[in-house]
Amino acid sequence: MTRAGDRPSARRVPLVAANWKMHLLRRDVEDFARVLGAGLGAPRAEVVIFPSHPLLAPAAQALAAAAPGAALGGQDLHPEPKGAFTGDVSGAQLRDAGCTWVLCGHSERRRDHAENDELVGNKVAAAVRSGLAPLLCVGERREERHAGETLAVLERQLAAGLASRPQRFAVAYEPVWAIGTGETATPEIAQEAHAFLREQLVGRYGIETAERTRIVYGGSVTPENAAALREEADIDGFLVGGASLDVGKFLAIIRVCGSA
Ligand code: 13P
Repeated sequence: MTRAGDRPSARRVPLVAANWKMHLLRRDVEDFARVLGAGLGAPRAEVVIFPSHPLLAPAAQALAAAAPGAALGGQDLHPEPKGAFTGDVSGAQLRDAGCTWVLCGHSERRRDHAENDELVGNKVAAAVRSGLAPLLCVGERREERHAGETLAVLERQLAAGLASRPQRFAVAYEPVWAIGTGETATPEIAQEAHAFLREQLVGRYGIETAERTRIVYGGSVTPENAAALREEADIDGFLVGGASLDVGKFLAIIRVCGSA
């Protein structure tokens, strides 16, 4: 098993992101930002908050005032720059709201909104055109893992997601069976997937870009299990769902990554 420090991967600045999904209200945002800002200090980790769209503007304001070290991202965007797309948001609108990141291809979008690989690739391209850094989410479903298809799924989702060859992006490995289930991938399982994804990046981009790209893990991450996951050489941070709603837990996870 490879360990952080074995190779240049240890030099990647960790990325720790909060995916709030469809949670929280305006009144929650200020307190969160205040406690986050007070606890962050000067983290060695890059911290990003992904609120739902109505919370972007208040979150941008609250983070700028109280936690300027944290960045903001959208949870989704439309692949077109503008137009008659009721209920959707564009990359330019996300930028305008203060975002620098956007999630693309989260499994809940793939599942609930029938987002296929091609659409996810188009969203990644749209994000880059708007000046946003995409955080491309990939991950196998439970039945795919049981059928021995995990690596094939990851290869397909990564290739389609990066079809436009973005230069500034990060990847989140989120095994669907670990999301919201309390069943975290073991460090070994996660590391195997991350190492495979990095090999794929080497093939697509060459060693330098692959070694620079952050690959974060998501799926029932808690302050308790984050440390063991972070020990793995190719786990460069976390995309946190449920535990990110509690600013104390989120800070604890940041500390696991940022104290190195
Ligand atoms: P949980 O941390 O709640 O399992 O969610 C993970 C996730 O989907 C982050 O994008």
